[in-house]
Amino acid sequence: MKPVVVVAGTRPEIIKMAPIIRALSKTKIPSVFVHCGQHYDYNMAQQFIENLELPAPDYSFKIEASSPGAQTAEIMMNMDQLLEKIEPSIVLVEGDTNSVLAAALAANKRVIPIGHVEAGLRSFDLRMPEEHNRRLTDHISEYLFAPTEKAKANLLKENVWGKIYLTGNTAIDAVIQHLPIAEKKSAIMEKIPFQTFVLATAHRAENVDNVSVLESFMEVFSKSPIPIVYPMHPRTKKRLQENKMFAQMEALRDVLILPPLGYLDFLILMKNCKLIITDSGGIQEEATAPGIRKPVLVIRLSTERQEAVEAGFAKVVGTDKKNILAAMEEAVKKEVELPYASPFGDGTAAQKTVDILKENFA
Ligand code: UD1
Ligand code: UDP
Repeated sequence: MKPVVVVAGTRPEIIKMAPIIRALSKTKIPSVFVHCGQHYDYNMAQQFIENLELPAPDYSFKIEASSPGAQTAEIMMNMDQLLEKIEPSIVLVEGDTNSVLAAALAANKRVIPIGHVEAGLRSFDLRMPEEHNRRLTDHISEYLFAPTEKAKANLLKENVWGKIYLTGNTAIDAVIQHLPIAEKKSAIMEKIPFQTFVLATAHRAENVDNVSVLESFMEVFSKSPIPIVYPMHPRTKKRLQENKMFAQMEALRDVLILPPLGYLDFLILMKNCKLIITDSGGIQEEATAPGIRKPVLVIRLSTERQEAVEAGFAKVVGTDKKNILAAMEEAVKKEVELPYASPFGDGTAAQKTVDILKENFA
């Protein structure tokens, strides 16, 4: 039987592919796990493979490119050589990163079917490289695993050629599978000097590559109504350093800057915080998971996770400091009753995806 290739290139792809890798390992379908090296620091890559108790990748690429185009091309060339050797039945990609587009294009050029996990998300914000990556990948995929009805509707509207399956999002599976482990293993709360805190993350290129947005976030952090815990993405640290703002951010009272955290520690911070402010995609989903259920202020102009907004978990507040601070004040004062069910599924997305693979490839 030809193997299924499972591709992950960045932190969120490892996390969201983990439940699929685990479900596949319980079948007779052979699989090959490829880490394509877009993220490469220990705390952006290997840390997650260990946290999620995944097997070591069968293949890992070392990418040296410095521009997004060269990064995409290098991953594509590495994937092309690998696919020639492995001849898989299908290449599974997850999400919307440059790794996803590169691996999908490599498979398309070798006439190998592509399965897109988390297909059909749309922010309609064409400034975002992710919006282009996900649209392009959806249109060359044969199997489209849509997490929600809304994602499915987006795909139908665009007349994609592949078959669409409604599965839920594996982000919810990952939270359900790992929160009990995190509760036993994580000691992160011992490092938090605050009783009540906001958990913040920001890394989106259209935010942190723009100095005026960085300045706005700095002011939000300095005037926040409650302390902030901020595990910082390497892209953001680099931009703050380039703009001579990192020392100023570090010196802010009541802001605890941490390195990028492991998944188990991050789950515990989400569980224990009062409020999340973020421009992350995956965190908008995880905030709705049973065991987490936290309000989120999305510090962006748009979201491709509109379901989180409609269910009452998330609010898109833009990047202007006044609006973010006003929304924080309101969120800190007001206790909102959040739904128990996640709009992103019930934790069975990976099993549904693997069942579809079994029907088609076993
Ligand atoms: C990428 C994805 C984004 C996703 C994010 C997850 C694209 C276009 N963007 O953004 O959709 O939300 O991953 O975190 O694919 N860096 C390090 N160490 C690392 C990785 C990155 O120092 O291990 C630094 C480098 O300076 C690099 C910069 O971060 O140039 C940006 O990394 P890159 O992978 O290009 O984009 P992300 O911002 O991480
Ligand atoms: N995450 C983590 N440690 C951190 C920050 C995030 O484990 O310090 C996890 C988070 O739980 C989620 C994923 O990383 O599963 C989100 O990744 P990111 O925000 O980088 O990417 P996006 O989802 O926006 O593509």
